[in-house]
Amino acid sequence: MKKILDLISEEVEKAFAEAGYDADLGRVTLSNRPDLCEYQCNGAMAGAKKYHKAPLTIAQDVAAKLGGSSVLSEVSAAAPGFLNMKVKESFVGQYLRDMAASEKFGLEMPEKPMKVIIDYGGPNIAKPLHVGHLRPAIIGESVKRIYRYAGHDIIGDIHMGDWGLPMGLIITELRKRQPDLIYFDDSYEGEYPADAPFTISELEEIYPTASARSKEDEAYKADAMEATYKLQSGVRGYRALWKHIMDVSVADLKKNYNDLDVEFDLWKGESDVHEIIPDMVDRMKKDGFAYESDGAWVVDVKEETDTKEMPPCMILKSDGAALYNTTDLATIEDRMKTYHPDRLIYVTDKRQDLYFEQIFRCARKTKLVNEDTELIHIGFGTMNGKDGKPFKTREGGVMRLENLIAEINEEMLRKIRDNAETKGYAVDDAEAEATAKVVGLAAIKYGDLSNQASKDYIFDMDRFTSFEGDTGPYILYTIVRIKSILGKYEEQGGKLTDIVIGEAQNESEKALMLELAKANAQLEAACEEIAPHRICAYIYDIANAFNRFYHETKILTEEDDAVRSGWIALLSLTVKLLEQCIDLLGFSAPDRM
Ligand code: ARG
Repeated sequence: MKKILDLISEEVEKAFAEAGYDADLGRVTLSNRPDLCEYQCNGAMAGAKKYHKAPLTIAQDVAAKLGGSSVLSEVSAAAPGFLNMKVKESFVGQYLRDMAASEKFGLEMPEKPMKVIIDYGGPNIAKPLHVGHLRPAIIGESVKRIYRYAGHDIIGDIHMGDWGLPMGLIITELRKRQPDLIYFDDSYEGEYPADAPFTISELEEIYPTASARSKEDEAYKADAMEATYKLQSGVRGYRALWKHIMDVSVADLKKNYNDLDVEFDLWKGESDVHEIIPDMVDRMKKDGFAYESDGAWVVDVKEETDTKEMPPCMILKSDGAALYNTTDLATIEDRMKTYHPDRLIYVTDKRQDLYFEQIFRCARKTKLVNEDTELIHIGFGTMNGKDGKPFKTREGGVMRLENLIAEINEEMLRKIRDNAETKGYAVDDAEAEATAKVVGLAAIKYGDLSNQASKDYIFDMDRFTSFEGDTGPYILYTIVRIKSILGKYEEQGGKLTDIVIGEAQNESEKALMLELAKANAQLEAACEEIAPHRICAYIYDIANAFNRFYHETKILTEEDDAVRSGWIALLSLTVKLLEQCIDLLGFSAPDRM
């Protein structure tokens, strides 16, 4: 479906042409003086030079041609040459009826859908998720959903840190504690036990212990490196133990991401490309891209136009070991071969900006990707505490994600109970707790996504959980309010099918309609700009427009049936759009709150 701005522009472009001017001058934008008009066109000013005429004259000529328009109701030329316009109620009504009848609110599907892989999450095996994992999960999930909705074929890959020294450290510590485990018996040839010899909590204790010990104890570190080597070269018992580490850890990760309503299509990790690394590195050497530097192997990625320092991309350390870079490059190779993507998107902390710039250049230079493969890094800012410093626990440690979520849910529960008390209705505990979880997730996700991803933001529990202002709970509150009106309408015997949106009866209704009419343009922009925050801003505008209309209008007691059912149809469209948008942000609404 065409965008409303395009339809209005077409009308004005036609008038420019009829008045003898270049049609292109007729491009219309939203008004930046909403007190005067709804839309404006600045084309007369742009045309003044070409036509040697006062802009006001041009604007007046065009306005005269728009007198009989079926789209525009008020057109006036204002000094120095603006065209100020309002649209007809009948036009907006029809636009919304068309929108309600189309798929996806009139969002046009791409002629050629893109194949995209999005790499987000990036948790490390055997380490608990902490607040640092929140942003990639939230942003990545939303971007994935937006792309999918916009008609692209997108695959989300978690890309776990599941290989290398951390695994060797865990195995070493296990060996110290339980040397008799069958996995360490080189002569054993039988099957290994199906159950892991540790639980997730043990694993989460083992890793930091091992990591700390290796920093103090050289011999221990050497053991860990040896264990890493044995694991990577395929020693059976070590592989079996690693498999247990993976299973236990992945089960826990799945639970945690599930609580966040984050779902990955692929659970691949660094280990998956282990075997293709040697060939890739050999090729980079053979093709002359990689050269030796202080014992390590590097690829130059500097470009002439660089203004900042651009260090070479290291692909092998001086001890011959692969590193973070190597696995990312090999993963690119693997993704290209397996999925043939047009675009690869990475969602990580913006402190990795330079790193990804190096990786992308190296991948291009060494032809791991095609010339037209797009490589995009979405570097996000830091989540800070109220003190403006990276978010910490009260004790100053790194906060586990579970604890952060629990805190938010607790606060939400308190607010939900308060709210029920003030309003004088009863909520049972189970329902209140379930609602608190749903609303708590919205509070966290909206609090994050409403900021442009690259910016730092302050995690403000009070503000995020508030039912008022630019918050997730406010959006949900609006949705719940609309659902309750629709429910009451049905209780009164009204039907939600076979009702149609009519013409706006008042200014606030029209404002809501014009807000809704932007849906396809807004959704398209959010996808093109990879910008979930645009969806947040949009639904905040819708919620405000709806609430204004709601406060100024007695909907359910309206006596004119056609008007009342038209309003109900408008509310249904509003709530459908809001619910779709929050789904794109990665959360949902409760039935009541
Ligand atoms: N596991 C990494 C870490 O904890 C993040 C991975 C990000 N993704 C990537 N393709 N490099 O820092």
